[in-house]
Amino acid sequence: MKGIILAGGTGSRLFPATIAVSKQLLPVYDKPMIYYPLSVLMLAGIREIFFITTPHDKDSFVKLLGDGSDLGCSFSYEVQDSPNGLAEAFIIGEKFIGQDSVALILGDNILYGSGLGTLLRNKILDNKPTIFALEVQDPQRYGVVEFNKNGEVLSIEEKPKKPKSNFAIPGLYFYPNSVINIAKEVKPSERGEIEITSINNHYFDLKQLEVQILERGITWLDTGTPDSLADANEFVKVIEKRTNKKIGCIEEVAFVRGFIDHKQLIEASKKYKGNDYGKYLKRL
Ligand code: DAU
Repeated sequence: MKGIILAGGTGSRLFPATIAVSKQLLPVYDKPMIYYPLSVLMLAGIREIFFITTPHDKDSFVKLLGDGSDLGCSFSYEVQDSPNGLAEAFIIGEKFIGQDSVALILGDNILYGSGLGTLLRNKILDNKPTIFALEVQDPQRYGVVEFNKNGEVLSIEEKPKKPKSNFAIPGLYFYPNSVINIAKEVKPSERGEIEITSINNHYFDLKQLEVQILERGITWLDTGTPDSLADANEFVKVIEKRTNKKIGCIEEVAFVRGFIDHKQLIEASKKYKGNDYGKYLKRL
């Protein structure tokens, strides 16, 4: 499975903070936001990753992450001219995906919790179109999935005014190769975007869609507003201080997954000139 990180968009809800800088490059506590979704794909065992950015921000992402070889991965980059919707990722990424299946993660989504990597790796092995669902207080801000008493899916709606459940869909999606052609058929919604929810409904109508509930051990944070970004900063800070372990440390994930060896990890730590991040890598 290949991976796409969608890191375009205007970030307008965070203006003026994101007028000159991509939202996904803003720090979330001690590292850039993009590290968190990148680490999730790497945890899932995905090493070939395609970043979609705005034309203006591409060079900054390349400067930050390079070709991925330091992490035992392969990174490539493409631009999205304007934010036409999440499903456009599969059209922009068509060549990159080739004949493979693909995971899409949004560059502003943070997922964290025990067992996440194993869960995702198992889901990839299932090789079915798979989305996830978690209970939230404010489902109207997200894609929402409705279940019946037996846990079967009844509907999937994008930002419903009257949500039929509290289960929101986080920005992580696994699809077979057919997603490319499905994305090409999706008509823009009222807000003018080709919606990921249309793709999910397509697989749902075919009775192929798997919806995996993420239980309370998994935390999902989005960082789209000043408040949610501040919450994410605080969350990462508290967990990291208390557990003495980092969240979203891409070098650590590369090491644990066996993408890089001891020597490469030590090399990576030197880049940080003995700051806390570098000391953490050295300690590992
Ligand atoms: O965060 C999860 C939610 O993400 C899902 O529950 C929704 O079903 C899904 O539609 C999406 O909701 P939003 O409409 O809130 O996504 P937003 O427009 O904030 O975009 C999410 C990220 O993707 C953001 O970092 C910007 C980037 N993006 C967005 C669009 C529309 C792009 O790079 N290109 C785009 O065309």
